[in-house]
Amino acid sequence: MSRFLPLLVLAIIAAILPSGQVFAEQTTAPAEPGLRILILGGTGFIGPWEVKAAQERGHTVTLFNRGKTRPDLFPDIETLKGDRDPDKDEGLSALEGRTFDVVIDNSGYYPRHVKASAELLAPSVRQYIYISSISAYAKTDVENQDVDAPLAVMDDPTLETMGENYEYYGALKALCEQAAQTAMPGRVAVVRPGFIVGPGDTSHRFTYWPVRVRQGGEMAVPGSPEDPVQIIDVRDLTEWIITLAEQNTTGVFNGCGPEGRLTMGKVVETARAVTGSDAVFTYLGTGWDETHPDVAFPIWTPYEGEYKGFHTFSNARSVASGLTFRPLADTITATLESFDGLPEDKRAAALERIPVAGEAELIAAAKAAGE
Ligand SMILES: NC(=O)c1ccc[n+]([C@@H]2O[C@H](COP(=O)([O-])OP(=O)(O)OC[C@H]3O[C@@H](n4cnc5c(N)ncnc54)[C@H](OP(=O)(O)O)[C@@H]3O)[C@@H](O)[C@H]2O)c1
Repeated sequence: MSRFLPLLVLAIIAAILPSGQVFAEQTTAPAEPGLRILILGGTGFIGPWEVKAAQERGHTVTLFNRGKTRPDLFPDIETLKGDRDPDKDEGLSALEGRTFDVVIDNSGYYPRHVKASAELLAPSVRQYIYISSISAYAKTDVENQDVDAPLAVMDDPTLETMGENYEYYGALKALCEQAAQTAMPGRVAVVRPGFIVGPGDTSHRFTYWPVRVRQGGEMAVPGSPEDPVQIIDVRDLTEWIITLAEQNTTGVFNGCGPEGRLTMGKVVETARAVTGSDAVFTYLGTGWDETHPDVAFPIWTPYEGEYKGFHTFSNARSVASGLTFRPLADTITATLESFDGLPEDKRAAALERIPVAGEAELIAAAKAAGE
């Protein structure tokens, strides 16, 4: 199994669905103000930004979660307590008898859970927005894949585990999409994001780059400056999700940014400009991971072989349905502000999780190879 897989949380499953095209239809109605929006989740990374976007546009938000994650975050928002697993604790009972315009499902990871919520809510909501992932695709070696590309599958679709290396994550996401679509045919919007980045990102995968550039000095950058990078600012993603709700847009969308091709070189150069750092970049090319298997730079994947298409998913349909992108410099600034606002122990822990300990050696080796 590829060593990049755990970091990317990808599921590359051998067998392929015959076609995903049946799910690619798209409809859009005129925008409506004052929606009642139910968010399944709401207190992690993307949920709070969805809440903000919805409230700013005059919608009423209700959350459904277990009350474990940041339970005091939204004291003024109605929070229904329960579990996505209908068989666990109070399950979905808090949703019974309730009516909403739109459900945004951030927290569905197993098809049985999504089936249960979508079937229960089908008579009492008009639209179900399911947050999936580009990991739902079967392959990443193909460039510019759009929403009708083949999806990942797994031998036993009843398995309720992500697997040791998250190898079932993507196939499970694909099954969750299908569970929602089966329960509410023609009324589902599926959003497949790539790397979601920006303020509040607890994975700190993208954060590594502006933080490291700001430290300055000689730094290692994998691949070449032209390698593509697809990220989406959480604020762009969530504002657009609310647009999908307002316009009752259904269909399948890649939630990937930016509009044109972003490159690894542009990421670090923009971070250098934003931070005024003296960082000097040594590009490592590929193959360095063979001598340094413990080093895994976040976000980047080799622009070749099985990952050639990983950072090149088409977002044309998403842009056509209202997705817009703020400048990269804005994302970098907000990411750094958010990181700097964390307590020191959390900042240290975030950086410790990024395995780049061999950076100096890699720079020396790259320089020696270039001499
Ligand atoms: N981050 C990325 O780069 C990325 C990329 C692609 C796709 N995605 C997708 O984006 C979504 C990320 O969402 P998020 O975590 O930021 O969403 P969120 O809505 O902000 O937070 C997750 C919420 O789910 C609730 N929850 C978790 N397990 C639950 C359960 N068993 N029953 C009821 N509630 C539960 C949590 O609260 P409690 O703990 O209190 O229950 C929390 O409120 C996921 O679907 C992920 O697959 C993320």
